[in-house]
Amino acid sequence: MKRTHHCNELRPEHIGQTVTLTGWVHSKRDLGGVIFIDIRDREGRTQSVFDPQDVPQDLCDRAAALHSESVIEVTGSVRHRPEGTNNDKIPTGQVEVLVSALKLLNHAEVLPFVVDDPEIASKVNEELRLKFRYLDLRRPEMMRNLRLRSKAATATRVFMEEQGFLEIETPTLFKSTPEGAREFLVPNRREPGTFYALPQSPQQFKQVLMVAGVERYFQLARCYRDEDLRADRQPEFTQIDIEMSFIEREDIYALIEGLLKQIWKVSLGIDVPTPFKRLSFQEALDRYGIDKPDTRFEMHIQDFTEEFRNSQFKVFSGAVAGGGVVKALNAKGLACVTQGQMETMTEYAKGFGAKGLAFIKVENGEWKSPIVKFFGDAEREALTAKLGIEEGDLILFAADQWLTACEILGRIRLYAAELLQQQGKLSIDPKRFDFLWVVDFPLLSFDKENNRWYSSHHPFTAPVAEDIPLLTSDPKAVRGQHYDVVVNGVELGGGSIRIHQRDVQKTVFEDVLQIPPDVAQTRFGYMLEAFKYGAPPHGGIALGFDRLIALLCGTPSIRDVIAFPKTAKGTCLMTDSPGMAEPRQLRDLHLEVKGAKRE
Ligand code: AMO
Ligand code: AMP
Repeated sequence: MKRTHHCNELRPEHIGQTVTLTGWVHSKRDLGGVIFIDIRDREGRTQSVFDPQDVPQDLCDRAAALHSESVIEVTGSVRHRPEGTNNDKIPTGQVEVLVSALKLLNHAEVLPFVVDDPEIASKVNEELRLKFRYLDLRRPEMMRNLRLRSKAATATRVFMEEQGFLEIETPTLFKSTPEGAREFLVPNRREPGTFYALPQSPQQFKQVLMVAGVERYFQLARCYRDEDLRADRQPEFTQIDIEMSFIEREDIYALIEGLLKQIWKVSLGIDVPTPFKRLSFQEALDRYGIDKPDTRFEMHIQDFTEEFRNSQFKVFSGAVAGGGVVKALNAKGLACVTQGQMETMTEYAKGFGAKGLAFIKVENGEWKSPIVKFFGDAEREALTAKLGIEEGDLILFAADQWLTACEILGRIRLYAAELLQQQGKLSIDPKRFDFLWVVDFPLLSFDKENNRWYSSHHPFTAPVAEDIPLLTSDPKAVRGQHYDVVVNGVELGGGSIRIHQRDVQKTVFEDVLQIPPDVAQTRFGYMLEAFKYGAPPHGGIALGFDRLIALLCGTPSIRDVIAFPKTAKGTCLMTDSPGMAEPRQLRDLHLEVKGAKRE
């Protein structure tokens, strides 16, 4: 309020000026009666000095008594720090403020954890950090994350505005459309037994906006999904949600490449090369074993189905005979894995459906493995040639159905890369961002349990035009006009060209997804209706904004870039939500709660 400068502003040119700073007591030292206080605000910190030689003892005593994180105002004159005491690590490190007046604006009690030491603070247990989030957010790294988030949001708005997009808010009280993730329901007081649902995304509204003639829509949209939470998933999260009319896939690629280029430039000063590489879903799985490949390192998966079709090793030839494949990868330099690590890896692979994890360690010029005795010369040669096998390598195999084998080795590839990084044999530049498009996804996937097809993405994705006739005759062959943008192994966003013809959409709902016509009518009737009245061809995409910021900030957890995130159990530890409702509220909502009582 009354400050003359913020705490990251004073430089040698301010020497001699009288200044007032406000902020928090970041750290405090007592050197033979001279008190040094680093005062911190949002922008940074400045050293202040209370010296009994220059000011009354009483002032120094009051400074000495201050608690960490108390809020103070200091007035004093700026001077050079004495010879040899400069702090090169902070921009204000050449100067200090010799204090003549101190005001305690508010006292802070002893803190539940320190915020002034990044080393210690980063080790504080996350539950404590979340309970006292307002303290956690005071840490400069967290403040930097919030700042980057704000910067990226502004860059997005500026870019989208320049490209002719309108920012339009869509409702967050929506209705249930139980096709995708589990939803959060909101009971409706006015009509017992009816519910709103919080939207999983603005998908349907943005398509209707295209029917309305908006042509270019975007929104920083809040989305809600009641899913199992992980480091990259929150029950409420934000998307940069986009929809456009009269476009093709290429238009979306170009738009998003431009947007990401701009955000990276503005936020990090990094020039992202465009256009991004493209990989088909099939190639991504074949080569990397996952549809969101981390392409910052190679370790490509190779196929050996033909080589092992008639192998003496029955595990492999048997898998091929059963319509499966044999795949392998070379974890270069990892022959030194311990027995324990090998067992962990095998268990890990089994967790993804592997029946086993055959391996070869190349040590002392020898292939060490229980299975090589079954291999003939041709098999050994093929392995050596395709995998570039050398001393010190570890070869890992999966023999299974195509998708399973790919996925197993995909996970093993990432795990092996982690081990190699720990051992210093693989280094990844933290400033490197490998953007790519994954395209040509199958439109539909088969659900064995329920014996039906479901949409790989969502039911509004258009099939590739020439595959439309196959929708009912050969659903698995139908390619969707879907695309994902992936960076460093993170699925940053996804979207598609949509179905805009009512009859095609009806076929997908009723004949392909087997949604009974009356159910389709209740859930999506208004969309089918809208498509009767001049729906333009359209398509769009949504980028996970929290994931995008986590990438910019170099943190693996999106909780670090959300001001008030939920725990893995979906709770907010600071406000203690969700909480119980009052009996009166339940009565108003015509609800009765059975079972569990809260402790
Ligand atoms: P999708 O479901 O693929 O597509 O979501 C788009 C992007 O949103 C992010 N995301 C999440 N981020 C944090 N927590 C979550 N629980 C979470 N779930 C998803 C991901 C993902 O890539 N309406 C479509 C988009 C479209 O077709 O235009 C949609 O929501 O980064
Ligand atoms: P077994 O003959 O079952 O003892 O298997 C020999 C080796 O092959 C062991 O190391 C198993 O872990 C491995 N193995 C078994 N089934 C598979 C499979 N489907 N894919 C890859 N490795 C396998």
